[in-house]
Amino acid sequence: MYLVTFILFVIIPLIRGEDYYEILGIKKSAGQDEIRRAFKKLAIVHHPDKNSDDPNAHDKFIRLTTAYEVLKDNDLRKKYDLYGENGLNDSNKKQTYHSWSYYQNSFIYEDDQHVINLEENDYFENVMNSDSSWFVNFYSPMCSHCHHLAPTWKEVAKLLDGIMKIAAVNCEYDRQLCYQVGIRAYPTLIHFKKNSQHGVHYTGEKSQEAIMRFALDKLNIHIPEISILQLELFLRNRIFTQRPILILICGDQQNCFTFDERLIVAATFDKLVDVKVFTCENDECHEKISFNTHAVYLPMHNASSWEPVFFNSMSDINALIEKLLEQLPDPRELTDNDFDIIKKTEFNVAWLICFYIGDMANLKDLNLQMKKFSINGANLGKINCGRNGQLCNKLGINRYPVWGMLKPGGAFELNHGKATNNDIIKFIQIGVKTTNIRALSAEEALSILQGDNENKVWFLDWYSPWCSPCIRFLSELRRASLEFDASIVRFGTIDCTIHTMLCHHHNIQHYPTAMLLNGSNTYQFTLQKTAVNIIQFINEKRNPSVVELTSENFNHKLAKKKSKVMWIVDYFASWCAPCQRLASEWIAVAKSLSSLSFVNVASVDCEAEASLCASQGIRSYPNIRMYPLGSEGLSKIALYNGQRDSLSILTWITKFFPKKVYDLNPTDYQRVLNSEYIWIVDFYLPQCWHCQKMEPEFAIAAQLLEKVKFGRINCNFYMHECAHIKVFPTLILYKPKQKRKNRNNIDNIRITATTAEAIRDEILELINFRMKHDEL
Ligand SMILES: *[C@@H]1O[C@H](CO)[C@@H](O)[C@H](O)[C@H]1NC(C)=O
Ligand SMILES: *[C@@H]1O[C@H](CO)[C@@H](O)[C@H](O)[C@H]1NC(C)=O
Ligand SMILES: *[C@@H]1O[C@H](CO)[C@@H](O)[C@H](O)[C@H]1NC(C)=O
Repeated sequence: MYLVTFILFVIIPLIRGEDYYEILGIKKSAGQDEIRRAFKKLAIVHHPDKNSDDPNAHDKFIRLTTAYEVLKDNDLRKKYDLYGENGLNDSNKKQTYHSWSYYQNSFIYEDDQHVINLEENDYFENVMNSDSSWFVNFYSPMCSHCHHLAPTWKEVAKLLDGIMKIAAVNCEYDRQLCYQVGIRAYPTLIHFKKNSQHGVHYTGEKSQEAIMRFALDKLNIHIPEISILQLELFLRNRIFTQRPILILICGDQQNCFTFDERLIVAATFDKLVDVKVFTCENDECHEKISFNTHAVYLPMHNASSWEPVFFNSMSDINALIEKLLEQLPDPRELTDNDFDIIKKTEFNVAWLICFYIGDMANLKDLNLQMKKFSINGANLGKINCGRNGQLCNKLGINRYPVWGMLKPGGAFELNHGKATNNDIIKFIQIGVKTTNIRALSAEEALSILQGDNENKVWFLDWYSPWCSPCIRFLSELRRASLEFDASIVRFGTIDCTIHTMLCHHHNIQHYPTAMLLNGSNTYQFTLQKTAVNIIQFINEKRNPSVVELTSENFNHKLAKKKSKVMWIVDYFASWCAPCQRLASEWIAVAKSLSSLSFVNVASVDCEAEASLCASQGIRSYPNIRMYPLGSEGLSKIALYNGQRDSLSILTWITKFFPKKVYDLNPTDYQRVLNSEYIWIVDFYLPQCWHCQKMEPEFAIAAQLLEKVKFGRINCNFYMHECAHIKVFPTLILYKPKQKRKNRNNIDNIRITATTAEAIRDEILELINFRMKHDEL
C-alpha cells in the first residue's frame, strides 16, 4: 500500500514535467498541420473512454489536451517557448475534453497525404491567382454528408496528385474564412482555374466518377493522334522536337489506358514531355510494337545516344509515370564547394536544392519527386548533409529532407511551407522572382548588425517559421522586395529558431520584428505589416517628409518656431496599436503637404524621448498637436481629436491656412463671371466622398497659386448655378472677363486634376500656353 502511493507520487510529477512537444512527439519546428495530426493520433489512442483500465488515463489525457491547446495557439506557444509552462497563466483554467468519437471524427483530412489542408492564413495566398488549378472542399466535421464524401475526396486527391490541387477547409476551425467565402452548406466544392480569383461551384453528383470527370474536363488537355507514317518517323528520330515525346499505344488488340488515364499522364508531364497517342489498326501494328506495349518514350532529338524506350506490360498508370520519370535526367549531386561556386558565379539561374541525409534507398523517391519540379524553371541539385555538414549547419538546416533555393544573384532561402510537391512548386515560383530577399546566415547577420556592410542598406525581418503572422509577413515582404533594387535596399530574414543567440542578444521580444538599417541608423518598422506599408516606410526614409523631432533638435526647430510657419506633430509610442495605424496615414498627410514651405509635419517617438514628451505634458498616444501660424514657439497649441485617417487630418489642418478659398453665393458667382481675375471654382456636394477628398487638395492648391482666385459653390443650396454640372466635384477655370473672345460665351475650362500639385500644374499650363496662344 505504501509502496503503491510512493510510486504514484513519483510518476505524476514526471508526467507533469514532460515537455509539450515531447508529449505530442513532435519537433520544436513542427507546423500547425503536424501538431493537429499528432494530436489526433494520440487522442484516439489515449482517450479515457478507450482506456478505462488505466487510472491515470484521465490525467494523461488532460495533459495531452493542454499541450495541444497551447501549441495550436501561436501566442500561447510563443510564451511557452520563451518561458516554459510558468510563462502560461496556468491559473488552473479547467481543461476539458470531448468524447472519443469527437476526436475520431473531427479531423477528416489531417492524416491524408494528398489533400491539402488550407487555413485562413494561407487560403487566399495559395488559391487566388495560383499557377495551378485548385479544387477546394469546404466541410464541417459535424456534417454527415461531409464524412460520406471523405473517402471519395481522398481518392480524387490521390488520382489527381501533381495535376490539380485538391484541398479541404475545416469550417469549424476557420469559421471566418468560410463566412468570407460565402459557404452556406456543407460540403461545398469549389473549383478555381489557374490564375483566377473566382471559383465555380461543383453541383454534380458526389461520386468519384462524376467528380473526376468534372476535374479532368477542367484540365483542358488534348492528346493528339499520330498516323503510322508519323510513328515511323518518330521511331527513327526524324522529327525535330522541343521536348521528349511519349506515344501511348492503343487499339483493339492492345491493353490501352483509358481516356482519363491518358489525360492524367499528359497532365502530370505537362510542359515536360509531349504526349501523343497512336492507334493500331486491327491486328496490324508497327513491327516494333508488341501487344503488351503500352507506350514508347522518345528522348530529345539531339540526345547523345538516341534510342526509343518501350514501356511494356505496365500494371497501371502509376507504373508508367514512374518509368517515365526515370528517363528524365537526375538532379545534380552538389558539394559545399559547388554550392559556393554556383552562389558566386551563376547569376542568371535558380537552383532548387534538396538537403537530405541517409542512403540511396530513400533517395530514389526523392529523385523522382524532384524531377517533377524541373518544369518550374529551376536547376535541380541535392546536397547530402551527412557529408556537407558545415554548409548545412551554416544554412540553418535542422530537418531532412528540406528544400532550399539559391536564387539568381546568389540569395538563398529555405522553404518554410509544407514539403508537399504543391508547396515546393509554389516556393520555386516565388523564389525565382524574388531575388532581393535572402535568409541570412549568422555570419551575414552579424556583419550587417555590426555595421560593416559597406554602405548597403538592409531591411531586416526577425521571425520564427512557426508563427503564422510571421509567415504572412514574409509573403508581404517578398512582395515589397520586388519594388526595390538591391542598390537601394536589401531584404534579409533572420530565423530566430536557428539564430537563437543572435535574437536574444538583440533583444527581439516578439515576432515578426522588422527594421531598416542604414549606416549607423536603425529604424523600427512599426506600421501595420503589409507590403504597401513596407514600401511607404522605406520611401519615407529615403525621402523623408515627416520631420523626426528629438530632444536634440526640438528646441532649435519647434521651440523656436516663427509665426510664419506652422508645425503639426504626432506624439506616438511605437507599441500602441492606434499609433501604428496612424503612422502610415501620417506619412500620407506629410506627403500631401510637402509642397507647402510654411507647413512642417513632424513626429516624436515618446518611447525614445520620454522626458521630452513628459515636458510637453503628453499623457496618451497618439497625441496630435498643431502649433499654428501667427504664434511663436510653443505658445499656442491646437489639439486634434478627430478620426485618424489622412483625409480627416488634412481637412482639419487646411482650416488653419490663411483664407484663400471663398464660399460663393449666387451674387458672388455673378462677380466671378465678370471678374478681372482668373477664378477656379469647385462645384461640390458636401455629402459626396470625392468632394470631401477634393476639399483639402483644393485648399492646398489655393496656397500654391498666388494670382488665381479660388471659390466653391455648395450645389445643395445653389441648384440654379450648378444646373450645368453633371458630376461632383467639378472644377472650372474662368478666364478674366476682358480676355474672353466673346462676351456671351462664358469661356471656361474644366480642370481634371484631383491632387493639389496636379491642379496647380494644370492651371499653370493653361495660363502659360493655352491662354497665350489664344492671344488672351
Ligand atoms: C496573468 O495573470 C495575472 C493575474 O491573474 C494577470 O495580471 C496577468 O496580466 C496575466 N498575464 C498574462 C500574460 O495573461
Ligand atoms: C538539345 O536541344 C535543346 C533545345 O532544342 C537544347 O536545350 C539542349 O541543350 C540540346 N541538347 C544537347 C545535348 O545538345
Ligand atoms: C540611407 O541613407 C542615405 C544617406 O543618409 C540616404 O541618402 C539614403 O536615401 C538612405 N536610404 C534608405 C533606403 O533609407
